[in-house]
Amino acid sequence: MTGPAVVVHRDGGLLAAVTAARLITALVDAQAARGTASLVLTGGRTGAAVLEQVRASPARDAVDWSRVDLYWGDERFLPSGHPDRNETQSRAALLDHVPVDPARVHAVEPSDGRFGDDPDAAAAAYAEVLAAGGEAAGGVPAFDVLLLGVGEEGHVASIFPDSPAVHEGARTVVAVRDCPKPPPTRVSLTLPAIRRAREVWLMTTGEAKADAVAAALAGASPTDLPAAGATGSDRTLWLLDAAAAGKLPS
Ligand code: 6PG
Repeated sequence: MTGPAVVVHRDGGLLAAVTAARLITALVDAQAARGTASLVLTGGRTGAAVLEQVRASPARDAVDWSRVDLYWGDERFLPSGHPDRNETQSRAALLDHVPVDPARVHAVEPSDGRFGDDPDAAAAAYAEVLAAGGEAAGGVPAFDVLLLGVGEEGHVASIFPDSPAVHEGARTVVAVRDCPKPPPTRVSLTLPAIRRAREVWLMTTGEAKADAVAAALAGASPTDLPAAGATGSDRTLWLLDAAAAGKLPS
């Protein structure tokens, strides 16, 4: 498998707009090939900006949103509708503005849901949701595109350096406690689950991410820098603005 591809754009606004266009095309192509598409969403500002650009795009209706299976790479373990939940933010940015099939929007149980305030039970239930997904091998669907933001220390989803989650090699979804990025309790896919995706797109902007980007692309250990372990089975794509790419070799 070839190494990651890197695409650098002038600034964060252009990155979000171009990545939205790229995402729309990827979903259309997946539906043309297989009649359906599966997309894993991310939390964070960069991911939300991309979804907002999809919503604003005249091309968005080229996607048959009723035939897209939607998942989240991680979720903040908060009550349903909480403004900090990734589901809440994804719905506001896009999902509430396109005709998705509610049965194909696979959200992580909230902390006031079926399992109450038990993130381990919510994680186990989400693992069962993944296992029931199409083309599930190893208990995870072959996602067409899995979106990830990247933290300053190289986290992706809620997988942080040298954490129990980054060392998880068997389970596909885990509870994360005492997360360095608030809120502290989350549910996250693990790296083995992320690697089931056909394409993994890592999207980040700003000078504060430049060290993590450079280290990941220079071959850092995933334990030290989880973004380095986020690879797709067919393609790994780093989508950066010039500031986040500022420490890459010219
Ligand atoms: C979360 C995200 C997290 C995020 C990164 C980057 O739930 O917080 O999943 O992994 O993507 O922290 O966030 P920004 O795009 O806002 O820098």
